[in-house]
Amino acid sequence: MLMQAPMTSREIFPRDAVDEAIALRLAAIGWCVVEDYFLLDDVTALRTEALEQWQTGCFRLATVGKDRKARELVRNDQILWLEPPYSGVQELFLARMEALRQAINRTLYMGLHDFECHYTRYAPGAYYQKHLDRFRADTRRAVSCILYLNADWQPSDGGMLRLYLETDGGETVHDVVPQAGTLACFLSDRIWHEVLPTRRERLSLTGWFRTCA
Ligand code: OGA
Ligand code: MN
Repeated sequence: MLMQAPMTSREIFPRDAVDEAIALRLAAIGWCVVEDYFLLDDVTALRTEALEQWQTGCFRLATVGKDRKARELVRNDQILWLEPPYSGVQELFLARMEALRQAINRTLYMGLHDFECHYTRYAPGAYYQKHLDRFRADTRRAVSCILYLNADWQPSDGGMLRLYLETDGGETVHDVVPQAGTLACFLSDRIWHEVLPTRRERLSLTGWFRTCA
């Protein structure tokens, strides 16, 4: 499998072209990382809202599998599903993801039907072991998308998203820095990945484009 360096959305405008480039990379290699996919002000607003919600105590321990059991040895992050009524900046995020959904469908005919997403918070020490995002009992999740909300992430903060990628002879890894504005996308049934233990609070919006069945 071919490996490519992350791209920056500043390099290719307009937005439609960025989304189409993401679709093409998903088709070619199954994953894509775009820095500065979102404006920093919008990411900051999303982070502020996430923290406000966190402080009200409405995040819940994340679960594993379609039967949604908590298994803290596998993952110990906390989540809050995005539900209406949406804030202005959440509407903006969802509109961008809708444009990306349409671009992927135009380019790849994947038949993506909807998008589900949640805020995610990893406390210091939290992680998510190596896994695939598609459930065995529910195969609708087709493309995983994660928007990171963390300013000034340092390598010493840990918490990288580690993608496991097939190569001709075996496997290689690509680590993604969970830096504010970066979007990571990959095929939910193909790309194994894990979140390495973080040393700092790590916030993101994690979502999936789903097919009908
Ligand atoms: C997940 C996941 C990766 C990340 O929530 O399924 O793999 O970088 N998240 O947060
Ligand atoms: Mn995952």
